[in-house]
Amino acid sequence: MTYSSTARAGDIAQLVGLSHKNFIFTLKTGGDFQTHRGVLKHDELIGKTWGSQVFSHMGAPFFLLQPSLGDILMALPRNTQILYPKDIGFILVSMGVAPGQQVMEAGTGSGSMTIALATAVGAEGRVTSYEQRPDMQNLARKNLERIGLAERVDFKLRDIQLGFDETDADAFFLDVPNPYDYIGQVRAALKPGGFFCTLIPTFNQVEKTLYALRQNKFAFVEVCEILLRYFKPEPSRLRPVDRMVAHTGFLIFGRRIEPSADPRGLELANEAGVGSMQEVKPTSSQEEQNV
Ligand SMILES: C[S@@+](CC[C@H](N)C(=O)[O-])C[C@H]1O[C@@H](n2cnc3c(N)ncnc32)[C@H](O)[C@@H]1O
Repeated sequence: MTYSSTARAGDIAQLVGLSHKNFIFTLKTGGDFQTHRGVLKHDELIGKTWGSQVFSHMGAPFFLLQPSLGDILMALPRNTQILYPKDIGFILVSMGVAPGQQVMEAGTGSGSMTIALATAVGAEGRVTSYEQRPDMQNLARKNLERIGLAERVDFKLRDIQLGFDETDADAFFLDVPNPYDYIGQVRAALKPGGFFCTLIPTFNQVEKTLYALRQNKFAFVEVCEILLRYFKPEPSRLRPVDRMVAHTGFLIFGRRIEPSADPRGLELANEAGVGSMQEVKPTSSQEEQNV
């Protein structure tokens, strides 16, 4: 997505009509955009200043806008729970995802996080995304193709229990129901010092993941939750909106570190959360294997 002051053929455009009806599509010379409030010809939109009002052949008004990444993600065709902008923004910043990096994720799902990662690493970077279901991978690939980002992504079809082909990733985002079962595989894919993050909805999953991270020598572990509360933007009676999304998931961050056997490093290793292995419990899958 490149930015300009006027709409051009090939740009992703957003039309916002009455009652916040919102459409996102790519502008194509000769194209028509059909809504239940009439048709808009792409040729009449191309060349218009972003932010201006346009009208369908029935006279229905729309604002012509360049959508944000958040707008694109919220409008994404999806078959799975997707990552939401409030979580994605914090994840990208906290893992330091930046242009030119090699980053990884599993599972791909509908590709919401894949789009965010592909945007953040830029044209010089690379995203490798693992998914076990072909239908999900196809949907994600289509979602990325629609906005011109698929070329930055290697889509891999595999149960991640089998591990990853890559090593030395700068960052890894894990979005599967049982992340605690794959922390060893993720460690092998990350570069030393690399960033890890997972999002999980329940306390039980958090507890198991914390044990697995400790067992696999991840340090600087943090658990948090992002709460986002909107306000009615009415200056004379400013107040929170009546409803909010109260819970999406807990975020767990950590970094792959290489503790030394030198006793002088023990105090710092303890502080960073990797000193003592005495508290480490087996993960559920290990318990099952031992039965
Ligand atoms: C919640 S969805 C991911 C949503 C995605 N992050 C997004 O933003 O659209 C979880 C995905 O993980 C995939 N998955 C679960 N276990 C897996 C495994 N062992 N190997 C590979 N993919 C897996 C599922 O098929 C599903 O598509």
